[in-house]
Formats: sequence, structure tokens, C-alpha cells
Amino acid sequence: MPMYAHIVGVGSYLPERILSNTDLERMVDTNDEWIVSRTGIQERHLAADDEATSDLAALAGERALVSSGISKADVDLIIVATSTPDMLFPSTACLAQKKMGLTCPAYDINAACTGFVYALQAAVASIESGRTRTVLVIGADALTRYVDFTDRGTCVLFGDGAGAVVLQAGAEPGVRGIVLGADGSGADMLKVPAGGSAAPATVERIEAHDHYLKMSGNEVFKFAVRVVPRVTTEALEASGMSIEELDWLVPHQANQRIIDAAAERLGMPSERVFSNIARTGNTSAATIPLALDELYTSGRLAVGNTMALVAFGAGLTWGAAVITWTLPHANKED
Ligand code: ACO
Repeated sequence: MPMYAHIVGVGSYLPERILSNTDLERMVDTNDEWIVSRTGIQERHLAADDEATSDLAALAGERALVSSGISKADVDLIIVATSTPDMLFPSTACLAQKKMGLTCPAYDINAACTGFVYALQAAVASIESGRTRTVLVIGADALTRYVDFTDRGTCVLFGDGAGAVVLQAGAEPGVRGIVLGADGSGADMLKVPAGGSAAPATVERIEAHDHYLKMSGNEVFKFAVRVVPRVTTEALEASGMSIEELDWLVPHQANQRIIDAAAERLGMPSERVFSNIARTGNTSAATIPLALDELYTSGRLAVGNTMALVAFGAGLTWGAAVITWTLPHANKED
């Protein structure tokens, strides 16, 4: 009998502090009308001064574990997808492990905004091979710590947050096909140039704002509109399914115009395309698990629903996964 990994718990965390478009109007030359019409974003959450990525990750991870009903002692592995680690090392996964009171192996994956789909692939491979039974996968980012709040072309886009799922082996189909991609020739389109081994922090680099996120917005936009439908189609093919069989498309939340264009190319009706970008902005590796938790807790996901998760990001990277939902809703009989 084939073995599948499936989701047995989901949780998320958004920091309390909210930064609205009106707040941004006071910081840079922008306005609510431009931000809403060009991106769909109305507000985003900001980590508190004493909150780091591992704090967001640990809170989302704890909530996913509670939702699964699985005890901490039974978790075999933690994978944290993040591109905004607390520090270069130790890994954010190790820091979150301690905060959650877990003792299992823990490591980070950095595939920028595609990180959660990459981490899902690693978790699924580990479960399907029989090497682990229970894996906690967390997508967590505090990108606003790397955003230049004097650059109106990027500072309106990003927010902080975390989401998590618990995966276990099961006989019924859960995670079906996953397709990943990367193209390092696009590395310059989206990067934080300084602070790593290529350009260690110096006063000059910090004064030049080189330790902040730099993005060629238009190029990333065109790449995203092309790659999202393509990789979604490839993941459906790998799963032996068609777009008509999808109950939900859960895309990375980077720009509502990217979401709409990709959905249109795929022929997916808008009411089956998840979006919460208006309230969260782009939370990088957290967008997809945040979406899963919101869909689940709002009662919009039923056991047996099939969805495609699809993301893209710096690297360049991209990835899609087709999943059949197996977690009954906490408050109702499915
Ligand atoms: N407020 C007002 N005006 C602005 C703002 C702003 N916040 N930002 C840019 N503008 C101006 C520009 O200066 C430009 O003015 P000009 O014509 O006088 O030069 C004009 O608006 C148009 O700028 P464009 O960059 O062409 O605007 P566009 O419609 O492409 O939208 C955006 C820009 C929103 C950044 C878009 O390109 C985008 O969403 N790109 C994809 C970004 C993305 O997905 N990034 C995440 C990747 S995931 C990861 O790994 C982190």
C-alpha cells in the first residue's frame, strides 16, 4: 500500500502591531489608492521590537501541535523555512525548538518566499521514506526587519508572520505531487546584498542601505505571472489531476494582480482562489501556511478537498504542491 504524508495539524501567528497604508503615507511618498490598486494590500503586521522570527515560528508551531493533538515528545523533526533568521547561526529552527520545549532534530531551509513548499518536500520525502513519522514544518519570516522604509517601491509590500503544519504518514492520499524549481541566474532580481560573506557589514554598506532588500519589481512581477500557472500545471500533472478537480488554489501572497493574472491563466474561478493579502501583505515563507490555517479555522476546508499550493520568490525559486485535505474541522463533523 502506498504511504502518503498528510497534514494532521495547522496553526499560525500574526504579530499584534499593524502598519496601515495611512501609516506608510506618513513615512514615504505614497498613498493608499496607489498601494491598494497596484498590490491589493491595505495593512500588514509588524513583529514587536522584542519579537524575532523564532518567536513567530514557535507560536505558530505550538498552535499547529495543539491542533494536531500530538504530544511534543512524538515530534521527530522540525523544519523552519525562513530567509530572515534570528541570526546567521544557530538556525531559527533550533531557537524555535527550545522555545517550544521540543528536543528533536531541527534545521532551516532558505528558499525565500518558496521556502514553505521546499520544506514541505523535505518533510514529505522524510516521511515517505519511513525515516520520520511526525514532522513539524514552519514557514516564518520577519521581512520588515530587512525592508528599507525609505524605499516606497518595496516598503509597502511586506509584513511579518508565521504558519505551521504537522505532517504524519497515512494510507489515504494527502500530499500528492510536488514540483520545485530554481534559477540562480535571476539572483539579482531580489536580494539583500550586504551582511553575508560576499559583503560583510561595514559602516559604509550600512549607510548605503545595502543590508536592506533590493528588488526589480517589474521583472519579478513578469517572472511570477509566468511561473505560477506553469508550476501549478506541472504539479497537477505529477499528481494525475486536472485543474477542474481543484477545490482551492492557494497562491503565495505577493501582489493581488499576480494572483488574479495567474488564476485567470489557469482558468480558476476567483471564489476558489485564496487571498488574504489585503490584511497581511507579503509574509514570505509564511503566506501559504497562514492561508491554510485561515481556510481551516474559517470552516472553508472540508475533508477530501483538494488544493494546489504555489509559491515563487528570490533565488529565483518556485514550487507547487497538490494536497488533499485530511484534517477534520475542530468544531464540526466532516
Ligand atoms: N507609491 C506610489 N508610487 C509608487 C510606489 C508607491 N509605493 N512604488 C512605486 N511607485 C511609482 C514608481 O516610482 C513609478 O513611478 P514613475 O512611473 O514615475 O517612475 C510608478 O509607481 C510605477 O512603478 P512600477 O514599478 O512600474 O509599478 P508596478 O505596477 O510594477 O508595481 C510592484 C510595483 C508593486 C513592486 C510590482 O512590480 C510587484 O508587485 N512586483 C512583484 C514583487 C514581488 O512579488 N515580490 C516578492 C517576491 S517573493 C520573495 O521572495 C520576497
